Amino acid sequence: MPLDLSVPLAPKHQPGLLLANPVMTASGTFGYGTEYSQVFDIQKLGAIVCKGTTLDPREGNPQPRLYETASGILNSIGLQNIGVKALISEKAPLWASWQVPVIVNIAGETVDDYARLAGELDGIAGISGIEVNISCPNIKSGGASFGARPQPAAEVTTAVRAATSLPVLVKLTPNTGDIVRVAIAVAEAGADAISLINSLEGMAVDIARRRPVLDNITGGLSGPAIKPLALSMVYEVAGAVTLPVVGCGGITSASDAIEFIMAGASAVQVGSATFSNPRASLDVLEGIKKFMEKEGINKLSDIIGVARR
Ligand SMILES: Cc1cc2nc3c(=O)[nH]c(=O)nc-3n(C[C@H](O)[C@H](O)[C@H](O)COP(=O)(O)O)c2cc1C
Repeated sequence: MPLDLSVPLAPKHQPGLLLANPVMTASGTFGYGTEYSQVFDIQKLGAIVCKGTTLDPREGNPQPRLYETASGILNSIGLQNIGVKALISEKAPLWASWQVPVIVNIAGETVDDYARLAGELDGIAGISGIEVNISCPNIKSGGASFGARPQPAAEVTTAVRAATSLPVLVKLTPNTGDIVRVAIAVAEAGADAISLINSLEGMAVDIARRRPVLDNITGGLSGPAIKPLALSMVYEVAGAVTLPVVGCGGITSASDAIEFIMAGASAVQVGSATFSNPRASLDVLEGIKKFMEKEGINKLSDIIGVARR
């Protein structure tokens, strides 16, 4: 029997968003997808999430803005991107010919920014969904401040929901005291799915210069260091909402991804791992298939959340 890895990512939405498999790329770590199409067959992935997009183009924060730690990366890119107009005119027409769905990650400084972005993307061929980034730790206003508390998170979600007919994922920040309450608020405000986690705020000091390494002082920590944290947050959120949950944070191998799925994630995103292995997302997918064959699992849905029971 052929394996069934399909994932309905927006079951309450019409027409929904059916992924062929659960492996997605994480925003900001896979460009616009085009960059990797020479490296492997990206059409095999479940979905591609593109770089965080704002209304106007952004150059991001000054250098240095990337630093490798013992088990992860600190970044303070600050949402460098081409802006929504260029994304629609230059990237979406190409995506429209792809088999793999592309989800556009959006970020704003005000609720109105998010609503305008969602409105601009609505109905554009080549765009299959929106991931609302209320979790960017690297911009001065907006971003993670919306995701830190339930009410602003719900306000952004409501505004985006009203502005688009596309499936809406909302991406949560771990930099909050109560991610479960934020998740519930976002679900009640009309999200179709919830993705988590974005990077954790961190820093490093250059002891020779006696200065923070990053120009921005702090940055977002990602990579293997954050996996156990991400996993427990996914476990908690998946137990509190009925929406599909997309797990992200430190996934470098198929077994990492399967841990997230067993904790309750319907799909996963591969992020920083792509920097050391550009094929990481495809390797994760192939490994999940091998695991299912070895264990005699025909349907991915049979193992979603099994560690909870
Ligand atoms: C260089 C870099 C840029 C990122 N840019 C974005 C972004 O634009 N929007 C977003 O929602 N997340 C962004 N992220 C966060 C990732 O999508 C992901 O949530 C985080 O890195 C944790 O996953 P990982 O440990 O697998 O990398 C970025 C991460 C990195 C390392």
